[in-house]
Amino acid sequence: MLIDGHGRKVDYLRVSVTERCNFRCQYCMPEKPFSWVPKENLLSFEELFLFIKVAIDEGVTKIRLTGGEPLLREDLDSFIKMISDYKPDIDLALTTNGYLLPEASQRLKDAGLKRLNISLDSLKADVASKIAGKDVLDKVLDGIDKALAVGLKVKINMVPLKGINDDEILDIMQYCKDRNIKVRFIEYMENQHAQESLQGMHGKEILAKVKEKHTIKALGREGASPSFNYALEDGTEFGLIDPHKHDFCENCNRIRLTAEGNLIPCLYFDEAMSIAEAVRNKDIEKATQVLAKVLKDKPKENRWSEYNPNEDDISKRAFYETGG
Ligand code: GTP
Ligand code: 5AD
Ligand code: SF4
Repeated sequence: MLIDGHGRKVDYLRVSVTERCNFRCQYCMPEKPFSWVPKENLLSFEELFLFIKVAIDEGVTKIRLTGGEPLLREDLDSFIKMISDYKPDIDLALTTNGYLLPEASQRLKDAGLKRLNISLDSLKADVASKIAGKDVLDKVLDGIDKALAVGLKVKINMVPLKGINDDEILDIMQYCKDRNIKVRFIEYMENQHAQESLQGMHGKEILAKVKEKHTIKALGREGASPSFNYALEDGTEFGLIDPHKHDFCENCNRIRLTAEGNLIPCLYFDEAMSIAEAVRNKDIEKATQVLAKVLKDKPKENRWSEYNPNEDDISKRAFYETGG
């Protein structure tokens, strides 16, 4: 079992397979980064898998593939199959912007993927295009339908932004209710790579919008999930991911691995340790040691709860590198 320096059990590994993306979301990558990680620095699937096996053997039971946009990485299905064949009962999921799902859904399902979380920030073509930097809505909606049709479990992520899509919380709730899928509203997390003028909605403001039409009941957190769950009057469940709240990190159970082999203990901070050399040398002992060190030093909590727009102290971590 993996236990961090604050006594928290860590059983969830998020693996970013590429930092590249076909969207330019305002809250994540409004412009193409100055440079991409050179191809030769990326770990191969075999190298990533070597670390994944270490993590699974040490007690990880949940793996989520992220990006950038993970579906841009060639031959992703074979990677999914490697993991699924090694541990068929693992909770194996992927977070995507949905654009490539019309073509990819069946292959992902056949390879052994169980779940998909898909970003959907607007149901209006012009707003979706404003947020993502290109005309994306039709493909994403098609992608959601296709994923459901092939039998993948789907959740929707929405980041409400003031003056942009804050009037669509109830519409997205209804869209998800109609399809019997769960939506999670995510507080915008300020970071140096995002569009500077963006203003997110606070969790309380998001809930107030929902309450304009519904009565809601708090259900609580599902295990160590970052999402706090609520139910509408008819039992429909939705979630709120509110990292600005002080106790958000209390049960944090996850670490992140980037495509170039950096092991990142917290989404907020810059700290990381590389496992690249260890896996390139097939040195399992070394990889295990790096993992233990990263866990020991995992920060107690993020600093979004202290965010002050007047200070230049804001997370430097790029979401497209960590996969959120
Ligand atoms: P489930 O397994 O379905 O619960 O997925 P998940 O919520 O773990 O994954 P997803 O990729 O859908 O993440 C949803 C949102 O939660 C993203 O915006 C993430 O950045 C955010 N999130 C996940 N883990 C953390 C965390 O440790 N800290 C913070 N601040 N945000 C997180
Ligand atoms: N704040 C909140 N959520 C973000 N995501 C990406 N950047 C941010 C941010 N700055 C979300 C995306 C996606 C998930 C992986 O992370 O909407 O659903
Ligand atoms: Fe791409 Fe996801 Fe970042 Fe949007 S949030 S730019 S889809 S990685």
